[in-house]
Amino acid sequence: MSLTPGLDRSASTDESALLEVCNASTTFATDRGSLRAVDDVSFVIKRGETLGIVGESGSGKTVLSRSILGLLPRSGVLQEGSIVFDGTEIVGAPDKLMRAIWGAKMAMVFQDPMASLNPVVRIGRQITESLRLHLDLDRSEAKATALSLLEQVGIPSPKERLRSYPFELSGGMRQRVMIAIALACSPKLLLADEPTTGLDVTVQAQILDLLSSLQKERHMSVILVSHDLGVVASRTDNIAVMYAGKVVEIAPTATLFSSMAMPYTKALVDSTPRLSQPSHLRLSPIEGRPPDMTTARQGCAFAPRCSFATDRCRSETPPLVTSPSNPLHRFACWNPLNSISIGESS
Ligand SMILES: Nc1ncnc2c1ncn2[C@@H]1O[C@H](COP(=O)(O)OP(=O)(O)OP(=O)(O)O)[C@@H](O)[C@H]1O
Ligand SMILES: [Mg+2]
Repeated sequence: MSLTPGLDRSASTDESALLEVCNASTTFATDRGSLRAVDDVSFVIKRGETLGIVGESGSGKTVLSRSILGLLPRSGVLQEGSIVFDGTEIVGAPDKLMRAIWGAKMAMVFQDPMASLNPVVRIGRQITESLRLHLDLDRSEAKATALSLLEQVGIPSPKERLRSYPFELSGGMRQRVMIAIALACSPKLLLADEPTTGLDVTVQAQILDLLSSLQKERHMSVILVSHDLGVVASRTDNIAVMYAGKVVEIAPTATLFSSMAMPYTKALVDSTPRLSQPSHLRLSPIEGRPPDMTTARQGCAFAPRCSFATDRCRSETPPLVTSPSNPLHRFACWNPLNSISIGESS
């Protein structure tokens, strides 16, 4: 797909597709050479759908999210392929166009609310600023909307909270404020990058449930990024598993869990703590380390850590293929787990 940056394609876009990522790659120039942090990634998110993106630390989840948002460093970055959001090409889009999209159509919630909230500005003003900028509301309309947003994200005594500074709130409450700010202009796509890391398990579940219910109410699409498959398991329509910058398996959530193909996906599941699991049972961490992304590789990037790896895995890169049993399930593996258990080979 080759598109002119900034070209409006809304007339030709499938109405149900909100985001179309096609052969997207993001490469950084580093002191040690080129680092391809996102490597030939393709997927589609429909309106109202939630995609979970999972993978170990360094697999490219945040760089992919930032590539979609058009929020990458200004120099030393090469973006290739196409990312079409609501009919608009993001790759190479001018800042002016992106400023009109950020907040208003595409919003984000990052891991650390303290890094995103301004510590010396009251919560109320941080919400109303965005409303006034994008929706052209006057002061009292913006204040009333801010109050309603704080109510919607479940903040007790919202009127008083409008006058609070970020440090006066708990971690979970700050993350709710971030969600209120992100939702202020009713975006079509919300990117939540590890939105609950660092919060305790109960608060995590509350925040994720809040995101799910707001998403349904607003028919918003969501990308939920996590290193933890358990976090995304019950809250997504589809899951993309990333390894070394590539999407190595993508499927509807139920399919991924019932018939996962990649040994890497299984290893991620086995390394995820479960509430139902007795605490004396040890998790199986994934042995070995992810590859150095600046070094050229042959074969499957996971092969050195994979107990099913064959000579072919070490020499030939597996392409992303469609599962014979489900056209929505794609994976990149020469020895998929299901084939192993049902005695077929791809
Ligand atoms: N600005 C940058 N310049 C150079 N390399 C970068 C830059 N940002 C990220 N990287 C590299 O890109 C790769 C992917 O990083 P990314 O932050 O996307 O991983 P992640 O999957 O989000 O990990 P985590 O779970 O720890 O958040 C890493 O090797 C990282 O070092
Ligand atoms: Mg990250």
